[in-house]
Amino acid sequence: MKKRIKIGLVGCGTIGSEIALAIDKMPAESAVLAAISDKDIKKAEALLGRLRARPEILGADELIKKADLIVEAASMEVSGPLVKKAVEAKKDIMIMSVGGIVKDYPALFALAEQNGCRIYLPSGAICGLDGVKASALGKIKKAELTTRKPPAALSGAPFIERNKIDLKAIRSETVIFQGSALEAIKGFPANINVACALSIAGIGPEKTLVRIIASPEYKGNTHEIVIEAESGRLATRAENVPSPGNPKTSYLAVLSAIATLKQILGTVKVGT
Ligand SMILES: NC(=O)c1ccc[n+]([C@@H]2O[C@H](COP(=O)([O-])OP(=O)(O)OC[C@H]3O[C@@H](n4cnc5c(N)ncnc54)[C@H](O)[C@@H]3O)[C@@H](O)[C@H]2O)c1
Repeated sequence: MKKRIKIGLVGCGTIGSEIALAIDKMPAESAVLAAISDKDIKKAEALLGRLRARPEILGADELIKKADLIVEAASMEVSGPLVKKAVEAKKDIMIMSVGGIVKDYPALFALAEQNGCRIYLPSGAICGLDGVKASALGKIKKAELTTRKPPAALSGAPFIERNKIDLKAIRSETVIFQGSALEAIKGFPANINVACALSIAGIGPEKTLVRIIASPEYKGNTHEIVIEAESGRLATRAENVPSPGNPKTSYLAVLSAIATLKQILGTVKVGT
């Protein structure tokens, strides 16, 4: 018989709350939400009030001790150190803030391998990582992500502030950024986790190219991936609807987190 998985959730915002509610509906013998954590205690308490389960509200270190599987939905600053601590404690971890590990992922993956634990990176708001992973087993010549966003979705990004870009003055399609995924994540840490997931699945953040385009006509985030590989050309496009809780987070990302969790806990895995 499979053991009941104790889950610890770090980040009780838009994605975290939906993950917690999904776990709450799962059969009690498959998984239980054992602990939750948030830097804003009110967010954790509000989430607790919506759940049937009674997870403890803990700090991240205590949560890691308590859980078999840690789920991160907080921020890029949290995900890197949390992955390190989780794999050092030989615990499995799923993270949404993929940007937080983009510089150190080879070392973290090696540590997880050594310690016999798993790191899960959901596809988030993009589609096509199945084909990217398969293509990466051969030679990929080019990997490119084009992200289209309403200007307001880029507000507060370091690149926008540093270059004094007036987002309100944008009237039509405007290319805001072109560069590597590594540069994109520095300039747009809250917006471009998808570029990091694509980089890790494909040819790495230095070689993956990113373009960010803004227009007031866009209602949600659209992500297009183009891969040119030995195995052929891949082109995917996700036209996303914003999640009700956070216009910067696509609803597909919320569902992708829950789908990954169901795959971890379930017995059947569909797709690459
Ligand atoms: N992989 C993807 O495709 C994808 C898509 C959307 C969002 N994301 C990322 O997922 C993360 C969560 O997104 P969201 O929409 O739920 O954000 P959100 O702002 O709605 O929620 C984040 C929560 O984390 C908490 N938090 C922040 N810093 C923390 C810390 N140091 N310790 C504990 N808690 C902390 C906040 O208080 C908040 O409750 C973000 O980093 C976001 O960039 C990834």
